[in-house]
Amino acid sequence: MSSSPLPLHFVTSADRLERLPDRAAEIALIGRSNVGKSSLINALARRKDLAKTSKTPGRTQLLNCFALDDDRALIDCPGYGYASVSKTTRAQWTPMVRRYLLERAALRQVLLLVDGEVGPTKLDVEMLEWLRAHDLPFTVVATKHDKVRSAKRERRKRDLAAGCQLDPKDIVWVSAESGVGLDRLRALVLDQLG
Ligand code: GTP
Ligand code: MG
Repeated sequence: MSSSPLPLHFVTSADRLERLPDRAAEIALIGRSNVGKSSLINALARRKDLAKTSKTPGRTQLLNCFALDDDRALIDCPGYGYASVSKTTRAQWTPMVRRYLLERAALRQVLLLVDGEVGPTKLDVEMLEWLRAHDLPFTVVATKHDKVRSAKRERRKRDLAAGCQLDPKDIVWVSAESGVGLDRLRALVLDQLG
């Protein structure tokens, strides 16, 4: 049996954390551009166009707030590591996201999305080191489970976990396409938001 979709609704896009509405608890989704952050928000809500997705990396450029209710929200952050936008735009989102992650009192958990087919990349590993160095609570979510051939899955799960220096059981594998892992992730999100 599958769990109910999260009743998320779009609240606002903010270019700095002060412009986000006050909330008691938030979870941030971060990860390489094109890894599937916005698609995952849609999948958790079982909606098609709640969060804008794109084949072109760099679609999400602001902190997008999707509320569960008045107290709890998910924040869809711009991705890192894409080259298709100007250097200034690329250079600007990093401080915005980093400041949000370091200074947001409501932040309960960071979901670091890693592409299940290719990751973790060098930038993902750097991000993991940064999260650990700052003692931020995080969960690694491996995306695009549907793109990994079933014969290769066990190996891929071990390799991805090893690359993240984590136990395979601590990584949540998901697919926005097939729905794999969404129940587990919904339960985790609700638990972390309290
Ligand atoms: P930015 O906003 O640029 O940071 O990217 P994002 O991480 O929000 O990625 P987005 O959700 O826009 O997805 C990027 C591409 O990956 C789109 O073409 C999606 O359709 C595809 N995609 C996302 N999730 C999955 C998945 O689970 N399976 C497959 N096969 N494709 C996926
Ligand atoms: Mg996006």
